[in-house]
Amino acid sequence: MAVRHISICMGSSCFTRGNNTNLEIVRRFLRERGLEAEVVFSGRLCENMCNRGPVICIDDKVYEEVNESLLYKILEEEFEC
Ligand code: FES
Repeated sequence: MAVRHISICMGSSCFTRGNNTNLEIVRRFLRERGLEAEVVFSGRLCENMCNRGPVICIDDKVYEEVNESLLYKILEEEFEC
C-alpha cells in the first residue's frame, strides 16, 4: 500500500477553531486502526484559507470547515474502515 499523507493546519485560526481537537482525533484514529506506519501525519502553516477552516488535507484533497463529526466521516471514507 502506498504511503498516505495527512496534514493539518496549525495556523492560529484553524487551530483554535477545531484543529486542536482534530489533531488528537487523527492521532487516535491512526493508532487505533494500526495505520501509524502507513500514514505520514504532519502539521502545516497557514495557507490563507482561514475563513474556510479548520483545514485538513489528505493526500491532494483539501477538506474545509472540518468539525469533529465531519472528521470521523472523512477518515472512515478515506481509509475505508
Ligand atoms: S490558519 Fe489555517 S488556513 Fe489560516
